Amino acid sequence: MDIQTLLASLTIEEKIGQMMQLAPFFFIEDIDVKIFGQVTDLHLDKKKIFQSGSVLGNNNASQMIEIQKKYLKESRHKIPLIFMADIIHGFKTIFPVPIAMAASWNPNLAEQAASIQAKESRVSGIQVTFSPMVDITRDPRWGRVVEGFGEDPYLASCFSKAMVKGYQGDDVSKPDKIASCVKHFAAYGASEAGRDYNTADISNYQLFNTYLPSYKAAVDADVKMIMTAFNTLDGIPATVNKFLLKDILRNQWKFDGVVISDYDSLHQVIAHGVAKDDKEAAFRGIDAGLDIEMQSTCYTNHLKELIDEKLISEKQIDEAVYRILELKEALGLFDDPFLGANPEQEESIVLCEDHLAYAQKVAEESIVLLKNDNDLLPLSKDLHYAILGPYADTSRTNGAWAGHGNNDLNHKLGDLLKSQGYHIDYINNQSILDYSKEALEKIKQVDQIILALGENEYESGEAHSKVDINLPRSQDLFVDFAKSMHKPIIVILYHGRPFVLKNIMEAQTILDVFYLGSRAHEAISNILTGKTNPSGKLPISYPRHGGQIPIYYNHLSTGRPHHNGVYGEYTSYYLDEENEPLFPFGYGLSYAKFVYSNIKVSNKDMYIDDQITVSIDITNQSNRSGYEIVQLYINDQSSYYARPVKELKGFKKVWFNQNEKKTIEFLVSKNDLSYFDANGHTLLEAGKFVLMIGKDSKSVLSVEINFLEEINHDDKKQSKTKNYL
Ligand code: BGC
Repeated sequence: MDIQTLLASLTIEEKIGQMMQLAPFFFIEDIDVKIFGQVTDLHLDKKKIFQSGSVLGNNNASQMIEIQKKYLKESRHKIPLIFMADIIHGFKTIFPVPIAMAASWNPNLAEQAASIQAKESRVSGIQVTFSPMVDITRDPRWGRVVEGFGEDPYLASCFSKAMVKGYQGDDVSKPDKIASCVKHFAAYGASEAGRDYNTADISNYQLFNTYLPSYKAAVDADVKMIMTAFNTLDGIPATVNKFLLKDILRNQWKFDGVVISDYDSLHQVIAHGVAKDDKEAAFRGIDAGLDIEMQSTCYTNHLKELIDEKLISEKQIDEAVYRILELKEALGLFDDPFLGANPEQEESIVLCEDHLAYAQKVAEESIVLLKNDNDLLPLSKDLHYAILGPYADTSRTNGAWAGHGNNDLNHKLGDLLKSQGYHIDYINNQSILDYSKEALEKIKQVDQIILALGENEYESGEAHSKVDINLPRSQDLFVDFAKSMHKPIIVILYHGRPFVLKNIMEAQTILDVFYLGSRAHEAISNILTGKTNPSGKLPISYPRHGGQIPIYYNHLSTGRPHHNGVYGEYTSYYLDEENEPLFPFGYGLSYAKFVYSNIKVSNKDMYIDDQITVSIDITNQSNRSGYEIVQLYINDQSSYYARPVKELKGFKKVWFNQNEKKTIEFLVSKNDLSYFDANGHTLLEAGKFVLMIGKDSKSVLSVEINFLEEINHDDKKQSKTKNYL
């Protein structure tokens, strides 16, 4: 298709139509589709509706085919619609929520999961997914923590890239691939006080080093679309933020894909108070480089007027529409507007056993064992267990943003364990006060108590912020109750955000299972019974107290650092709580025992084009085989800007046979030693660096190297620092 000729054949109204995205019920009134946002009357006439360019949400191939046919019949230009939807961690085969997937530290799994999502989506008539969400999250009060890959830019970037590759493959016109839309650009995860949609106000230094890399990773992986965020950044709503959309995205990163607003977020700039009406909102959107508005009509109703008044040019519209048409071309829609959608194949592809088995594999690797005193796990067939608590017989393991999934298809944990010959009773209760006499008698008989605690799936996700990230008090009472029965306690924790777990630390065992999707309980039972050795590690710190938020491992050092456990007045610490999290970033146990020793570097001195090798010996001192996630951190000892006390720069998930010893190596090059200044320019400075390898961000062994050259940078040249070096 010659896009330029097609573009030239469109009227200005038709061009502007391409820049609007509407929900399916605009095209077919009584269609059964769930969308996630307030639905308001957009006052559109039929002509405008049938000029729009894309659709938000779709359930299945037949629905898509019906809408596309109707649209193509009604529209003059016959340019197919694109169908976009939120396929976040599964279409109908549901994978672990992204924060759990990140706990696998296995981006290859995420890539494969995304490719299965693409397969199920495309055959069901969806061509673009609003995923991955790569907002860095350091505040567990924010409900959307569940949708992202945690607190660390490096780990999140690895998952960002993997998901984009999985969805798109090397050609999005293939009938089993979809285009990916990375979101929410930018810094949405920094919403103040963890309240959704709130202001983000961070320094550019933080922006470039912490918040932007995960979006950049998606752009480098050739992501086709990017969605703007709801928040303001530096006082300007991200949807109309020129610095983000033009200076960074288009000019610095050379992104040439489509930029879409979030749901109604162009119109919402009026509520932000930066536009007096829809017309000004439209002006600010096009001026900033926004291509599509989702579920609002500022563009549709006002862009033409703005051109007529010479406030904007038709060229600006042409640039946006060109990108949208190019995406339609890339998706193969001009050749076949229904490409991939196939109701018959849908039956056999969606939720097929292969996909479910893969969902289970991902789930198994996403589980994190936080505590296992006295080796309560694996379970024993010789013991009698009771599963108690509000989630004791739940099958609701899909979690937030799994709108096409069906929790009723998922199995219950107790049933699965029983079917394997384990002696299990389960009693689902919201409160210990609800137990009947018979139930209490039954509980007294058992050897150990399994408590299924946490939060329900509706308590995390969009618009689900909380001020209190403690487990509900009623759930602590389950622990007290189990203790009063003098029974060993195993906690299984279902949740979408880090919790303060201090009150349940008396449980001997805590297994963190987040929301693991369609095959959650098969995965959990395999871990509980020891068929699979747990290997997940936390992608986000778990605080001791809500007052520590934001808490993250890669913080800067203060001028008065506090040394844990050592009293030091006038150092940076709390009077009433430790500085350290309860469970640090990167933490997770195994049934095996991995011992680290002998960290070494190939060379202590490093020049700019050198690659040095840092290695460590790891011994599995146990009779269990399993995976260990080995983590490389770096600390820059003297630099122009204060640098994080530790930064993740590499990781490897390594299989160890029982009692096996291996030497694990990482290559370190100049990229690992560089960082961004506040203008987004790369700085690489001579000096000492500490390289650390460990099993989590806290337990590391370290070695120093000297980096002997540096790339000069204007900022630095002007600084006095240069003279000292
Ligand atoms: C969310 C986005 C989502 C969009 C479309 C918005 O409310 O913030 O993440 O992609 O709705 O459903």
